Amino acid sequence: MSERYSFPAYPNGWFRVAYGHELEIGDVAPLHYFGQDLVLFRDEAGEAHVLDAHCRHLGAHLGYGGEVEGEGIRCPFHAWKWNGEGVCTDIPYAKRIPAGARIRAWPTVEKNGLVMVHHHATGAPPGYEIPDLPQVGADGWTPFEIRRWKVRSRWLDMNENAVDQVHFHYVHGAVTTPETRVEQDGHILRCQSRMKLRTPRGDAQGGIDTTDFGPGFQTVDLTGIIETLMVNTSTPIDEDYTDVSFAYTINAEGNEEKARGVGTAIVRDLEKQFEEDRPIWENKKYFDNPMLCDGDGNFGVYRRWMSQFFSDESGP
Ligand code: FES
Ligand SMILES: [Fe+2]
Repeated sequence: MSERYSFPAYPNGWFRVAYGHELEIGDVAPLHYFGQDLVLFRDEAGEAHVLDAHCRHLGAHLGYGGEVEGEGIRCPFHAWKWNGEGVCTDIPYAKRIPAGARIRAWPTVEKNGLVMVHHHATGAPPGYEIPDLPQVGADGWTPFEIRRWKVRSRWLDMNENAVDQVHFHYVHGAVTTPETRVEQDGHILRCQSRMKLRTPRGDAQGGIDTTDFGPGFQTVDLTGIIETLMVNTSTPIDEDYTDVSFAYTINAEGNEEKARGVGTAIVRDLEKQFEEDRPIWENKKYFDNPMLCDGDGNFGVYRRWMSQFFSDESGP
């Protein structure tokens, strides 16, 4: 285990493994998440599936040369065919399919333009669902503008940013320390911040409402300059690295000129903020018992909330 963390690397919950528009019918892609090799494919009916990567026969990686056929994927090595549930449905040269010829299939959903899988240390079924976001694809809202980073940090450090009200001033140049309210609702954590922002056009009043739905999926509603929704997702790659992505959509209804200008500025500012946070995230250590003071944010609520996504089987 990485010495920087006293928590296991892989929490339980839903995680993005791809953007839906990047995966056409018949596409096959190798993935590496949760320290494991996986294969992603979209079958001919349009459904996305994720299986463990290695064919149960003699171990070929289905992501390298596997071919979609109907509702399954055929292995490049000896042509065994596996369906989306990981069951072997055909061996062209055998009279009988061996009992128990199965590959682990990961629970997969496609929502809000994201292909997501459920990870659980014991393989338990999902304990919560990802909501459908009404803004995504709605009239007047711009198509997703996507940014992606590989960061040497874990989701719990990055998500903790939202409750860390003081860092907005010292790291990101917020004019004042924002007023932040944090509340937990089962697997959901809501964090509302109000602050004064320094923009090229002068100071503005801004609002950031961050909502976490489990460890891998977070929405950020930005108000004040223009209505923006950010869908932030982070998926553990291995014990050290996380695949982080922000997807932005902006309400351009009746105001396309302004939306384009302000939208570009917001996106540029968010990228700047990310680069400001990154060296801190990549080099910090996670303290179980940080020495907090009365001006700090509500870390207690955050840390109680995030601990529910680990089970005894999650590891040391
Ligand atoms: S290794 Fe996949 S069919 Fe033989
Ligand atoms: Fe930050």
